[in-house]
Amino acid sequence: MRKIKKLGLFDKPTRIEFLKSVTAHLNGPKIYIKRDDLIGEALGGNKVRKLEYLLADALAKNADVIITTGGPQSNHCRITAGICAKIGLKCALVIGGAGKYEYEGNLLLDRIFGAEVVFSGTRDFDAVPAIMEKIAEEFRAKGRRPYIIPLGGANGIGALGYLEAYLEIQEQMKSAKIRLSAIAVANGSGGTQAGLETGKLLSGGDAEIIGISVLFKKAKISDIVFKDIYETLDVLKISGKKPGGINVFDEYIGKGYAIPAPLTLEAIKLMGRKEGIVLDPVYTGKAFGGLIDLIQRNKFSKKDNILFIHTGGYPGMVNMKAEHVSAIVK
Ligand SMILES: Cc1ncc(COP(=O)(O)O)c(C=O)c1O
Repeated sequence: MRKIKKLGLFDKPTRIEFLKSVTAHLNGPKIYIKRDDLIGEALGGNKVRKLEYLLADALAKNADVIITTGGPQSNHCRITAGICAKIGLKCALVIGGAGKYEYEGNLLLDRIFGAEVVFSGTRDFDAVPAIMEKIAEEFRAKGRRPYIIPLGGANGIGALGYLEAYLEIQEQMKSAKIRLSAIAVANGSGGTQAGLETGKLLSGGDAEIIGISVLFKKAKISDIVFKDIYETLDVLKISGKKPGGINVFDEYIGKGYAIPAPLTLEAIKLMGRKEGIVLDPVYTGKAFGGLIDLIQRNKFSKKDNILFIHTGGYPGMVNMKAEHVSAIVK
């Protein structure tokens, strides 16, 4: 790991806090939270960890334009745009979706950070790689050197960020003398969970890694996570290691990506009112809502220690529909 280039963008480790009031309220396992939402860069979140590796790779390959993709409220696009602005790379974003979008939240931030925004005009994310390749070709024709980052930064290089986070967590828990039973995290494009799984595969530990999908059904996201684990092992030039099973829950997606479910809103209220911590409606609210449900269905005992990784995402809050806002404020 130490030999692999990365940008040093923030102070590590991010802190871990005990959620005393939420734990008391749920009357189940002890719940801890890792504050990756407090990573400062470009308003922070999990994607900074991935981009430390991806953008270092782009610079090592002498790229001068970064092309990536996400939905209109993509945290990944916002953070890519922000870090590109800081390190002096041009950034072009292919924003997926068929609607007409207002410049607000993350989409506004993309433009504040100076990224070029191209709308794909389709909800079909499988169509986007070809659009990114076409844009890359246009840049090459102008003598530029594009580097394409896939949706969510999910590949073997991006996943290194959460392999590193896994090692960080192990150190932190060891010095706090706490044995974790589970690490829970939102799963969107799979790279964060893949990094954690690779960390566990390589350095051990018995905490169960629980991904709570906010986007893809279990079969699809499991394939993606496995693919990313193997890619990460390839990047590290490690052979002969085989991942075991992975644990992804897809029953909390609700009506679809970025549509908050009742549990999502409950989680946002609970964390806000008991801990003064903001969860977002797309990723962390949905994931923590799933964790609340697992606790209420007695998946864990009172002796267990659970770590929830807060992966950021506040700017997505701006996009909430009136009915969801009123479920919180009423
Ligand atoms: C705030 C936030 N949390 C969690 C995730 C999920 O991470 P991943 O795409 O690596 O599964 C994302 C991105 O998709 C995100 O923006």
